[in-house]
Parts: sequence; structure tokens; C-alpha cells
Amino acid sequence: MFRRLALPLIKKCLVNTKYLQVRHLEVAIVGAANHIGSNLALLLLQNPKITKLNLYDDDDKVRGIGMELAYFSDGPKVVSYSGDNFLPAAVRYANLIVMVSRTARKSGQSRQQMLAANAPAVHKLCKVISEQNCDAFLAISTNPINSIVPFASTLMLHYNTYNPFKICGITHIDTARCRTFAGNALNVSPRRLQVPVICGHSEETIVPLFSNLAPCNYSLDSCKADTLTRLLRKAGTEVINHKTGEDSAILCMAWSIGEFVERMLIALSGYETAVHCFSANPHFGTRFFAGPTLVGAQGIVQVCSNLPMSEYETGLLNRSIPVLNKEVCAGESYINVMN
Ligand code: LMR
Repeated sequence: MFRRLALPLIKKCLVNTKYLQVRHLEVAIVGAANHIGSNLALLLLQNPKITKLNLYDDDDKVRGIGMELAYFSDGPKVVSYSGDNFLPAAVRYANLIVMVSRTARKSGQSRQQMLAANAPAVHKLCKVISEQNCDAFLAISTNPINSIVPFASTLMLHYNTYNPFKICGITHIDTARCRTFAGNALNVSPRRLQVPVICGHSEETIVPLFSNLAPCNYSLDSCKADTLTRLLRKAGTEVINHKTGEDSAILCMAWSIGEFVERMLIALSGYETAVHCFSANPHFGTRFFAGPTLVGAQGIVQVCSNLPMSEYETGLLNRSIPVLNKEVCAGESYINVMN
């Protein structure tokens, strides 16, 4: 599937790469003063398609971060906005809004606790987007993604601005980790590999499809696939443990969100491309599902369906779906808790 999604992109990019170099898109990072947000902003400075980069945070520190980034004269115009009153201005003209605000996951914290910690910031943002710029594409990396994206979608529905093609959770981190683990196991550069990762973004719902490993001359036996699946599911928690339980992944998150944004900007420039994301998808017995997704100028063009799977992967997916459904429902019904 990923191969099928990726090939048209390569062809289209070859047609006219000149347009892709023209600065014409505005991006807003919401949560730009946290470590993921500021690292992401630094990475996005190098993107030739961004004409203006808006940095928003509740924390006034964002002004200092914006000041630093504005010193790079080759990059886009950088403007910082701090405090609730400036959120409308930060998102009003953005083509792409990237939500990275978060209370970092601590050791032992449950997904429900994370939802409670992060829902207020998502609520505030969805309300402002609905009032100011409901045509923008909203990409969310705030955890727990399995509940936060359904929560945000329900809020948009409540404000009559829900567009399932313009909202998703960013799950590039899972395929980035998966490529690295597979590359190490096969002793090849991860850069040469593609592995679709589907279902959700939590220890019990991440489902890597090593049977779809590309290029197809590489393969992993079922025992290796099982070991790497366990490794992938625990990867986020391992980082937290190595940070003495105090913080979750930052740098790899910023990098993988940067990779997602780069592809999204190609898509918004009119060239369909594939990303890994968590979005509305009815094909697997859930309302939301993660996987390789085709995006274009108007947002999501095609979500994944009918993926070939090994017996092991089918079993894993069947066990993951009920967990995902529970997390999706928790997000959708959280609007009642907040009202
Ligand atoms: C990760 O996968 O490392 C991130 O989503 C952070 C987290 O809370 O696990």
C-alpha cells in the first residue's frame, strides 16, 4: 500500500520541483515554547516552502525563541505569539496548524491521565480554529493521539466545522522507529526501507507490518518480526525510563513531525504524497485508524484499507482494535467531561 501511495508522488515531484521551492505557505506551531515545538521550529526554518512561521505558546518564553530563530536570515519570516489573546492571530492565515502542546508523559502515567492533562489546550485550539480558520489542515502530535484526535474531531463537529479530510494525528515516529529497527536487524540503511505501521499510537495498538517491508528483496522471519514489534511498542516508554521517568521523547518526535510537515507542505502545494497519520477511517471496524495515507492540496485524499497482512499481524490487529475502540470512545466522550 505504502509503495502504491509513494510512487505517484515521486513521479509528480519530478514534473515540476521548481514550484516546490517557492515560499508560499504559512505554518503555525502551537506549543512552540516546549522542547518539541522549538526543535521543530528550528527544523522548519530550513523548509523553502514556508513563507511565514508562526510560533504560539501560552508561555512568554516563545518570544525569546522567536527572536533567536528570526536571526537566520535565509529562513521564513518568524513571528511569535504568546497568551490566549494572540492565538487567533497565530492561526488565522495558516495553511497548516501543527499542535505540539503537551504535558509530557511521565513514568507510570495512564493514557486517561494524559488525556485530562492535554485536553484543555486542544479544546482552546479547536474553538479558535473553528472561529478563525476552519479551512486550515490541523495536524496533532499531542498524546494520547488515539483519544485526542477523536476528541478534537468531536469538538469541531460541535462547532459545525468538522472536516475529516483536514484533521489527523501525526504518527511518523512509529514508522521512523520501525525503519531503524528493521535496518539494524537487516544491516541496511533505514533510509532505504519503508514499513507501514497501522492501527494506533500506544503500546497496545501500534501494529507494524513487517510483511510489507519495502524494497521487497528484504524480509524478516516471524520470530524477528515479533521481537521488533515488542521493541517498537515499548520504544516511547524506554525513552521515558532512560530520562529517569521525567520526560518523554523530544528530538525524535521533533524530527519525525518535521518529516511529516515537509510532506504535508508538498501535498498542500498540489502534489499528492504519502504520510503516516491517524485519521477518520471506517475500514477496520473503528472510526479512527493510523496508517499510510495519501494527502493532497485539499487534505486527506485516501486512507488505507485492504492491507496485505501475515497471520501474526492479523492476530495482533484483531487484539488491538478493541483497545483502540475504547480509546477512541474515551476521546469522543471527553467533550461531556469538559462541558
Ligand atoms: C513517543 O512515542 O515517544 C511519544 O508519543 C511520546 C510518548 O508519550 O510516548
